[in-house]
Amino acid sequence: MPANTYQQGRIKQVFSDKNAQTSYLISQLTLAEKIGQMSQFNNDAENLHNAIKQGNVGSVINEVDPDTINELQRIATQESRLGIPLLIGRDVIHGFNTIFPIPLGQAASWSPDVIELCAKIAAVESSNSGLNWTFAPMIDVSRDPRWGRIAESLGEDPFLCSTLAIAMLKGFQGDKLSDPHSIAACAKHFAGYGASESGRDYNTTNIPENELRNVHFPPFKAVAEAGISTFMTSFSDLNGVPATGNKWLLNDILRTEWQYPGFVVSDWASITQLITHGFAKDENAAAYEACNAGVDMEMATDNYAQHLPSLINSEKISIEHIDAMVSRILRLKIDIGLFDNPYAANSTSSKQLNSFHLAVAKQAAIKSCVLLKNDKHTLPLSKTAIDSLAIIGPLADDGYEQLGTWAFDGNAEHSITCLEAIKAYVKDSIKVKFAIGMETSRSNHQDGFDEAVNTASDADVAVMILGEEAILSGEAHCRSNINLPGCQEALIDAIYQTGTPIVLVIMAGRPITLATILPKVDAVLFAWHPGTMAGPAITELLFGEDCPSGKLPLTFPRTVGQIPLYYGQKNTGRPASESTFIDINSINVRAPQTSLGMTSTHLDTHYSPLFPFGYGLSYSQFEYKNINVDKYSINMGESLKIAATLRNIGKVDAEEVVQLYIRDLVASVTRPVKELKGFQRVYLKAGQSKSIVFDLHTDELAFYNRQMTLTTETGIFHAWIGGSSDTELKTEFEVILPSE
Ligand code: GLC
Repeated sequence: MPANTYQQGRIKQVFSDKNAQTSYLISQLTLAEKIGQMSQFNNDAENLHNAIKQGNVGSVINEVDPDTINELQRIATQESRLGIPLLIGRDVIHGFNTIFPIPLGQAASWSPDVIELCAKIAAVESSNSGLNWTFAPMIDVSRDPRWGRIAESLGEDPFLCSTLAIAMLKGFQGDKLSDPHSIAACAKHFAGYGASESGRDYNTTNIPENELRNVHFPPFKAVAEAGISTFMTSFSDLNGVPATGNKWLLNDILRTEWQYPGFVVSDWASITQLITHGFAKDENAAAYEACNAGVDMEMATDNYAQHLPSLINSEKISIEHIDAMVSRILRLKIDIGLFDNPYAANSTSSKQLNSFHLAVAKQAAIKSCVLLKNDKHTLPLSKTAIDSLAIIGPLADDGYEQLGTWAFDGNAEHSITCLEAIKAYVKDSIKVKFAIGMETSRSNHQDGFDEAVNTASDADVAVMILGEEAILSGEAHCRSNINLPGCQEALIDAIYQTGTPIVLVIMAGRPITLATILPKVDAVLFAWHPGTMAGPAITELLFGEDCPSGKLPLTFPRTVGQIPLYYGQKNTGRPASESTFIDINSINVRAPQTSLGMTSTHLDTHYSPLFPFGYGLSYSQFEYKNINVDKYSINMGESLKIAATLRNIGKVDAEEVVQLYIRDLVASVTRPVKELKGFQRVYLKAGQSKSIVFDLHTDELAFYNRQMTLTTETGIFHAWIGGSSDTELKTEFEVILPSE
């Protein structure tokens, strides 16, 4: 059947274009059916089949069985009056059956190409099951690792988050939404959710407009411009107006300023929660506030179904407003091609978890791991120099926990754990002995310590695989302390006492405060939650089959008391510096109440992070030299080249993520002391060097000023190139107005 043909039993029309098809459908729909299109119900909703038949359902969430989905679509297209197909939505966040590293881990790969491929595979596997809409990417910029959902985010930086979000979007939506293996994506949670106070989920956010526009909006604006199909509102109260009822956000910004054409879905019951917020007095008011603000589709609750008819009949909401909302929903269904074929591209084993999907999952995990410490070249381990290996820890052999949060449709049975992979790799060349040490990562019982200590004492090296179980990260799973949970630090200390070198592998959904245990371990590989192929990926890194190349997508604080701590901070009027930090132990007792330093620091913790944004070691070493610009002054509207020489001065071929940062020294609003403006993943053989060049246009220096206008201002800029945000290799350039 040719595209834009609408056939439902009795009605066969061929439309000149999608707008004509949309308008025709709007003209045919009753008010009840229009409100039906604005309603998404969970797959376990009562009388779902009948509701679909009555035309009261526009979308179903959380159904993943292909046969069930096909039956729902059959009812919708063959038994309802107008035969409008359903959007079938699911949280396909970091994989469907093949689970990739959690998004925060994928962000640590700084590899848009790998991230796009992971999303594409997720789209193939989920569309095979009949899904056509995912609630991803989650692009909340977050700087608070106490927040459980930081695991779902792409880190602390607007530029990195924007770049990687576009890669995910391309993977999900492909070149054509109508491709059977493309699925619609969803930018969430709009907006500012990552700034939930105290890192407690669903908590209040107070974000000045300038901060919203310069930090939290950029990833959303980037994916809106890149064609993302839908947006999802946040649960959170944004400056006193919950995002789900925030007309300034959904209409003035998204629709009017950004001219976004896609549709907005609420979060789960977030319309009803407007009552809990104290923003709507009842469900009728909640339906009004959300609809009036611009929420096109309601997820999981039925305030729209119950109250929009009366709101429209009483003309509180106009039918034109409803028609515009329903048009956006119908247009997506047309764009996806659901009117031509709404059915699952029936899943075949070759498409799910096949060798290619698993190979990509392993590569993604390899690129996402960040080497934080490697004293005395403890890593890579040598199969010939080691006779015995102790594998210790509750996450060493747990195929479920390594999947991480939001891995709904993954299956632990498909996982390859670290213990399994290490044993398979070393075979008989090394004696491997496993001791779990603790029942779970949260356990406070030291019953397993003796066995672990004995195992380590008999080994040449102890590989400890610790961290957070999946349940300790993700939605509503926030922590007031971000150290290793349970008695893991005590377990590390017990193994440390044996004198056996320790390689610590951490699986977690957030930065962990490691300062206490860092001196006791020889190497640290931070693996996030690496997914189905955690074992092979970590094994290949531990034994040098591949070289760690991940870089931190967010800052690791020394203590939880430093939060929020991020590289792109403002300078303040009294910036901390080495010269003014005063350690609390260096203060004489009865010191006079004089100003101790008078700078922005804490007396009891050094102001610097434990590990900075962009940091990550390699098995090789990289040298950066000769930073330069091709011209010192550039006219507004022009570009300049910023370059540096990178050299692999180590003994192994390796990849490095080269980063470009700038600073706008003086501007009409204060600007961050550093801003990431570019990065390149570069492979160099041992001894090889290469000039790394970044092109930078003055538009890329723009920010929202006091008038909330996006602008680049003239003046002097600093620029850095390096392998971490704390790089000191700096140059300078000036932006000037072109001479008349
Ligand atoms: C959840 C999350 C949202 C998710 C939705 C559907 O509560 O906030 O990210 O997509 O509900 O599961």
